[in-house]
Amino acid sequence: MSERAETSAELKKLAEQIRYHEAAYRAGQPEIPDSAFDELLERYQELADQLGLDLSERLDAQPGQDHTAGFETVEHRVPMLSLEKLSPNRRDSNGEPMPFSEQLGAWYRRRQKELEVDVVPLIVEPKVDGISVSLFYVDGSLARAVTRGDGRRGDVITQQVQQLGTVPRKLEDLDAGSLEIRGELYWPLSAFERFNATLDKPLINPRNGCAGMMKRKDPAGLEHTGIRAFLYQVAWDEGLSLPSTQAEVLAWLADRGGEVYLDEVYTTDSEEDALRYCEEYDARRASLDFDIDGMVIKIDDLELYSRLGATGHHPHWGIAYKFPPERKPTKLLDIQVSVGKSGKLTPVAILEPVFVSGTTVSRASLHNFVELERKDVRVGDTVLIEKAGEIIPQVVEVDKSKRRGGAKRFVPPASCPICGTDVVSEEIFVYCPNPACPDQIRERLRHFASRGAMDIDGMGEALVDQLVDKLGVRSPDDLFPLEVDALASLDRMGTKSAERVKAGLEEAKGRGLARVLNGLAIRHVGETMAEDLAAYFKTGDALLEFAARYAAEEEEAIETVAPAKSTERGAIEGLARKSADSIFHELDSPAVRRVFEGLAEVGVSLSAQSADVREVADVAGKTFVLTGSLPTLKRTEATKLIKAAGGKVSGSVSKKTDFVVAGDEAGSKLTKAEALGVTVIDEAALLELLGL
Ligand code: IVH
Repeated sequence: MSERAETSAELKKLAEQIRYHEAAYRAGQPEIPDSAFDELLERYQELADQLGLDLSERLDAQPGQDHTAGFETVEHRVPMLSLEKLSPNRRDSNGEPMPFSEQLGAWYRRRQKELEVDVVPLIVEPKVDGISVSLFYVDGSLARAVTRGDGRRGDVITQQVQQLGTVPRKLEDLDAGSLEIRGELYWPLSAFERFNATLDKPLINPRNGCAGMMKRKDPAGLEHTGIRAFLYQVAWDEGLSLPSTQAEVLAWLADRGGEVYLDEVYTTDSEEDALRYCEEYDARRASLDFDIDGMVIKIDDLELYSRLGATGHHPHWGIAYKFPPERKPTKLLDIQVSVGKSGKLTPVAILEPVFVSGTTVSRASLHNFVELERKDVRVGDTVLIEKAGEIIPQVVEVDKSKRRGGAKRFVPPASCPICGTDVVSEEIFVYCPNPACPDQIRERLRHFASRGAMDIDGMGEALVDQLVDKLGVRSPDDLFPLEVDALASLDRMGTKSAERVKAGLEEAKGRGLARVLNGLAIRHVGETMAEDLAAYFKTGDALLEFAARYAAEEEEAIETVAPAKSTERGAIEGLARKSADSIFHELDSPAVRRVFEGLAEVGVSLSAQSADVREVADVAGKTFVLTGSLPTLKRTEATKLIKAAGGKVSGSVSKKTDFVVAGDEAGSKLTKAEALGVTVIDEAALLELLGL
C-alpha cells in the first residue's frame, strides 16, 4: 500500500472510532476518557492536514454539524474556527515525545520569525467549557446572536440569548458603529445544580445542558436557568476605534457591561511563564463556579493577528492548553455484576470512596469481562480512576506495584446474579436470557419512560423503582392503567405529582411506533433502527406479522430485509443479516407479542406517526445516494425529507440505487453513478420529486 493509501486507511478507521465515541458521549454513555477521545481527534486532524483534506470532507468541520431543524441559519462574517492544541501525544522528528514546553517554545519561535520581532506579547485566559456564541451589535444594541454551528454557518438564537438576560442588550456608552463579539455561554455549576434538582431526569452536565437550553424553540423560562456568558473577543468592528491589545479589549468589554474573566487573565512576554501559569491554574479549578477544560494562550497585540493568518481550522494567533484529566488512586473493594435492560451483564467496580473531578466516586463501570481480563483488574488492587467526558467514572488502569498477594482474579458468572438463569455469550458480551429477571424489568421500564424513548413526564428512575416494588408493575403496558390514587400513595408523591404523571402517560400514548420500538429495549434496536422499522412497516401489526414470517424462515421475508448477497441492499438501510435475525426473532417472541397486545389494549398508538411518513409516490421505496454539498439543504435535512417521503438513503452507489443527488464537488460516487447508468439529479430536481 502507498503511504498515502495507508494514511487514508488510518484516517477512515479513526473517523469510524470518533463517530462511535461521539455518539456514545452524546447518549450520556461515554466509553473512553475525554483525553483518549482528544487523542483520536488530534491524530485525525494531523492526518487530515497531511492529506490536505478539504474542509467540507473533514469530520471536524462537517457541514450541518450542530444545526438544529427549525432554526434559521446564517453565515458568519468571519468563520468561527477552533484552536490549535498543545498535544500530550506529539512527537519530534526522531519520534521522541515532545513535552508541552518544547511544543510551545517551537510555536513561539515560529511567531518571532514570522513577525520578525524578538518579543511576542502573550495573554493567558481560562478556556471555559460552554458553547461559543457570536453576538452582533448595531449602534450598541444586540441585533443577533448565533451559535458556532459548523464554523461557517450557525443557528440564530437571538430570542433565547435575549431571554437569558445576562448578555447586555445594550452596550453601555455605545450608540454608533457595529461589531461582533464572541463569547462562551456557560452554566455556572451552582445554578446548574439548583436547576437540575428540579428535574426528574437530570441533565448530564452543564455544557450539554446549556447547549440543549439554547436550542429550546420556546425561550420562555430561560431567564430562570442561571446560564451566563463570558465575552472573550471582538471578531470584527466597523465605525469604532477599539483598543489594540486583547487585555484592553477585555477591559473595554467590561466597561460596556459585558462579563469577562479579567481577574483570571495573565500577561507576559515569556512563553515559559505562560505555560507555568496554565499549569498552576489547574489547582484553582476546584474553587471556580464554572467548568474550564484548559487555558488559551493568545498573542496580546491585535495588530499582529492579520499578519499571522489562519489555516482552515485554526488561527495562528492562539493555542490551547488542556488540563491533564484528574486521575486518582483508590482501592477496589469488590466487583459486582449489574444487569442491563437487554440482559447484558456488566462488571461494576466497588471502590473505596474517592473524590475525582468534583464528585465522590464509589462505583465505576468496568464495561465487560474481556476488558476486565485485559486490564487484569483484581479485587484488592489499587486502581486509577478518571472520569470519561468528565461525567462517568472509569477504572483506567491497575497500579501493579501496589498489588498484594491476596488480590483475587474475578471469574465471570455462569448464571445471572439476580435471577440465577444460566448466562449466554454473544461476541464479547454476556447476557441473562430471562426477560422476567427483576433487574431487567426495572431497567427496561426506566428506559421505556426515559427522554429518548416514550418521554413520560414526571416518571424518573426513583418512581419507576417504586412502581415495580410497590405497585407490581412488570411490563410497559402495566403503566398506562395506573390510577392517580395509587400513584399518589407512593413516597414523595402527592396528588399533584400523581396527576402530572397520569397526564404524562396519556400524552405518551400518542408518541407512535418508532418511540415504542425504541422504548422496548430490543437488542440492536436503537433510535435510528426503531425509526427505520416504523417508517417501513407503518404499523405494529404489519411488523409482527412480518417477524413471524421471518422467524418461520420464510425465504422471501428474509431476503426482503437482509439479502444473502452482501452486495445487495435490503429494505431497511444498514440492517445486516445477524442483527435482522436477532431483531425479528425477539419481536416474534411471546413476551414481546404480549407487550404489543397489552399496549394496543390500553390505547397506545402502534402506528408510525403521520408526521414521520408522508409517502410521496415518486420517492417511496426508492433508494437515494447523496454526494457533494447541496446548495440549500444540509445532508441531514435531505435525508430526513427523503425518509419522511418513504424513500431510503444509502451511503454507497450500486446498481440498485435509483437516484444519486449530486451537489458541488461531488466525488467518486458521481463517477460511479455515471458508470453504472444511475440517474443523477440535483437538489432542485430532488425537491420537485418530493413535491416541495
Ligand atoms: S478564543 C479560534 N478564548 O474554546 C477560536 N476561546 O477551540 C478562538 N473558548 O470555540 C477562540 N474560552 O468557544 C477563546 N478565552 C477563550 C475561550 C475560548 C472558551 C472556546 C471557544 C472556542 C473554543 C476553542
